[in-house]
This record gives sequence, structure tokens and C-alpha cells, in this order.
Amino acid sequence: MARSALLNIMVQAATKAGRSLTRDFGEVENLQVSVKGPGDYVSAADKKAEEIIYESLIKSRPDWGFLMEESGEVKGTDPLHRWIVDPLDGTTNFLHSLPIFAVSIALEREGKLVAGVIYNPITEELFTAEKGNGAFMNDRRMRVAARRKLADAALCTAIPHIGTKTLGRYLEEAKASSAHAAAVRGLGSAALSLAWVAAGRLDGYWEHQLQPWDMAAGIVLVREAGGFLSDISGGERMMESGGIIAGNEIMRDTIRKTIIERS
Ligand code: IPD
Ligand code: CA
Ligand code: CA
Repeated sequence: MARSALLNIMVQAATKAGRSLTRDFGEVENLQVSVKGPGDYVSAADKKAEEIIYESLIKSRPDWGFLMEESGEVKGTDPLHRWIVDPLDGTTNFLHSLPIFAVSIALEREGKLVAGVIYNPITEELFTAEKGNGAFMNDRRMRVAARRKLADAALCTAIPHIGTKTLGRYLEEAKASSAHAAAVRGLGSAALSLAWVAAGRLDGYWEHQLQPWDMAAGIVLVREAGGFLSDISGGERMMESGGIIAGNEIMRDTIRKTIIERS
């Protein structure tokens, strides 16, 4: 599969950061047995991965701006382009040696998402998409799943944890989804959840209160895999509102009506 120059730049940055995360993941596995645990080590690994991505992208496109989870906004002299970067999505998984995490890089052009790369360095699954050119997992074309009924569907959402303020809403959604769906999962990585919807592994995914870097690349993947997205109220303000629903068109709408609105 021939990739565009733009995707090549993004893939190079993501895989380089991924190699660094893989090395650190090995160390995290050793640190599980220490009393202090790997907490500080993980936050250093996260920052290091972001630096690698920044250095790699700025070298190729010196004028473009950034929105990064760890370093925030860095304005470029080119007002049209902005990279949106989450160097490590699935931090809690990483911290606990669960190999479900990813590097996520998206490109916004004139305020519109035009390319996305998500890379899980442990499974070496590389998800890429560019507007108008389809979505791929490694070299294979991705399509969202075609299932139409919740009763056949594997869904994914975020499972609350200590400190979550919206436990009540989750319990209602859990009740509705468990009553209607074939399976409900929580991966702990918004980026990989969206990539897996694009790959047809998950039939649908929803989550509240995300940040733009959690979802930007995944949005491009799902769209280019023929999927549909909306915010929680059915509009298109996912990035602004933090709420997202993804799947094929029927699944996206059914999740909203049957699980979220009824909750
Ligand atoms: C988190 C993951 C998680 C989602 C959280 C995010 P992080 O990102 O995507 O799945 O439920 O809301 O903050 O902190 O691992 O980059
Ligand atoms: Ca994240
Ligand atoms: Ca992160």
C-alpha cells in the first residue's frame, strides 16, 4: 500500500514514539513488584513520547502548530494546520502493564480533521486514514461492521473509576446496554476504541467527557472506514463537547436512542 507523504510523516512520528513506549513498558512490567510502583516512570515515558513526536513532526513541517496533551497548544506560523497529539492514550492500562494503549496523532487543516494515525506498539497494529483515501490497519483496508441489531453487537464505553462524578449516568447506561447488547466492553483507551470500531471489531462505542486529543485521529479512522459519528445529542460537535458515539449509521443512532437517551 502506497502511503501519502503526509501519512508517512505521521507514521514515522508514531512508530518512533511507539518504540520508546515499548522499551518503557518493559520496565513498567518490572516495576509492578516495587512498593512505590511505576507511577513516576510512566509519566516520564508519556512526556518522552510526546517530545519524540513533537521533534519528528516539527522537523518535517516547521510552520505547523500543535495541540498536545502534555505540552498544550503551540502556535505555528501557518494558521491553517495543526497537529493534535496524545502520546499515550490508555495511561492507566500502561501503568498496570495491560498492553492496550496507543499513540494518537491527527492533523487538522482549516479546522477540519483530515488525517489520523493510531499505533499500538505492543501488537504492532498501525491504524491510518486520510480524508478521501480510506482507512487501513497495517496494509489492510478497514470497514466498520455491518451489524444492525444491538442484540448482535459488541459495544464499548468507559467504565467509571474512583473519582468519576457521573457514576449514576453510567449505571443507567450500563443497565440499558447490558439489557440490549451481545457484549459490552471497556478498553480504557478512547483512541483504540475508535480504531477498533473502524476495524469492525467493535460495532459501536460511546463515551462522555473526552478531550480533543483522545478522539481526533479516531474520528478520521471511523469516517474513512465508512462509519458514522455524532456527539451525545446527535450533532457533530464531538471535539467541542467531549461526547462521542461511533458505529455504522444504524448502530450510532440506536446507541443514542436506546442506551443514552433512555438512561
Ligand atoms: C484516557 C483514555 C480513557 C478515557 C479517558 C481518557 P489517557 O486518556 O482515553 O479511555 O476514558 O477519558 O482521559 O489519560 O490515557 O491519555
Ligand atoms: Ca487520552
Ligand atoms: Ca494521554
